[in-house]
Amino acid sequence: MSKKKIRLGVFGFGCVGQGLYHVLEQTKGLEAEIVKICIKNPSKERELPSSYFTTQKEELLNDDKIDVIVELIDDPEAAYHIVKEALQKGKGVVTANKKMVAENFKELIFLQNQYNVPLLYEGSCCASIPIIRNLEEYYDNDLLNGMDGIFNGSTNYILSKIFQENKAFESALKEAQENGFAETDPTLDIEGFDPKYKLCIILAHAFGVFVKPEQIANFGIHKISPHDILFAQEKGLKIKLVSKCRKIGDKVFGFVAPQFVDKDHYLFNVENEFNSVAVEGAFSEHQLFVGKGAGSYPTGSAVLSDISALTYNYRYEYKKHNQNTSLQFSNEISFEVYVSWSNGTKINLDDFEEISEKFSGAKINYLIGRIKLETLRKTEWVRSKDTSLILTPGSKVNFVEEKEDIYDKDFV
Ligand SMILES: NC(=O)c1ccc[n+]([C@@H]2O[C@H](COP(=O)([O-])OP(=O)(O)OC[C@H]3O[C@@H](n4cnc5c(N)ncnc54)[C@H](OP(=O)(O)O)[C@@H]3O)[C@@H](O)[C@H]2O)c1
Repeated sequence: MSKKKIRLGVFGFGCVGQGLYHVLEQTKGLEAEIVKICIKNPSKERELPSSYFTTQKEELLNDDKIDVIVELIDDPEAAYHIVKEALQKGKGVVTANKKMVAENFKELIFLQNQYNVPLLYEGSCCASIPIIRNLEEYYDNDLLNGMDGIFNGSTNYILSKIFQENKAFESALKEAQENGFAETDPTLDIEGFDPKYKLCIILAHAFGVFVKPEQIANFGIHKISPHDILFAQEKGLKIKLVSKCRKIGDKVFGFVAPQFVDKDHYLFNVENEFNSVAVEGAFSEHQLFVGKGAGSYPTGSAVLSDISALTYNYRYEYKKHNQNTSLQFSNEISFEVYVSWSNGTKINLDDFEEISEKFSGAKINYLIGRIKLETLRKTEWVRSKDTSLILTPGSKVNFVEEKEDIYDKDFV
């Protein structure tokens, strides 16, 4: 395959933009050159000469010498307009913006086809773990049953600091932000939106199913209380923010929620900004990817890998979708959860299919029970700031109609 030299117009010179610049500097074999960088604040001090920078996006988008736009800004709305215009102008695009991709997925694929240009976004999902390219290429012919793991580096960092160093939630979040792991708006991380956007992208490449972010349930770590942490520690458990998706028959489910994990669970020792993705194929069986899921260089290296792929004219073929499967996304599942709430908050116990344990104390109450995801999506009490929801360690997910356990005990 012929290799071509690429001239880049880069949007954003923050955590990931600077990481890309440095990894590009140290990668001698890649025929790529940064022509111009568009930023927002012209008076910020930069490590490169001012001639590199502009605040005028058209300077990049209208430059015929620039053939690839690398979009690395922290504003998904502005990013969408930049990426759309770049594709319309016939430029290939690399982005790390999962919210922007997840919210505009079908239109972005339409634009790629209409203008015959590639859009690559490996850095948007689990940073340094090359999961999208693997789903597209390696798992092309393998029947995937399911995937799950930790898809967000900053929440894993926060949970690690809480469990390993007894740090308070707020100071652990501040540290994650100082290290460049958190999104500019950290609610995207701690409320589970960021891993949900990644799940949207992964569902498309794993199963060929396009799901809007609002169709997917996300429960975050922001309401986990000191009592929940004590509950876990007393039982030798940790809490991880886990994303799951799985196919049964012609249905696929996916959601994001915190889960208690015990010391035998494969996520127990995945700490700090590391992510982990477990893939279960029909024939390949279980495989585990682990790598840094946030940070300047890990994300920069994923972006670099996409740029490198463009020198070989690589583009996603959306193979699973084009295989024309009849898979449908469904939230008709139930699972076992631990729910805790403070005195004064009301939980509707009738919402649970069964309750196996219940405790009421002076300060805290909790129960362990099985509940339908659709019930949780409709109920008000789960949205209360004093209610915390965590999947139990071996929580089995059932499709409501099928009434069958669908997880191998040793998998999740
Ligand atoms: N950080 C991570 O670990 C990580 C991991 C995976 C994916 N990502 C994704 O990568 C992207 C960038 O994240 P980041 O952490 O690098 O953000 P960041 O450190 O906050 O940097 C954002 C950059 O975007 C620039 N910018 C903002 N709005 C702009 C606009 N309208 N036009 C031009 N430039 C604009 C800013 O300009 P100024 O410098 O002038 O302020 C800044 O250079 C996001 O989509 C994020 O979700 C980040």
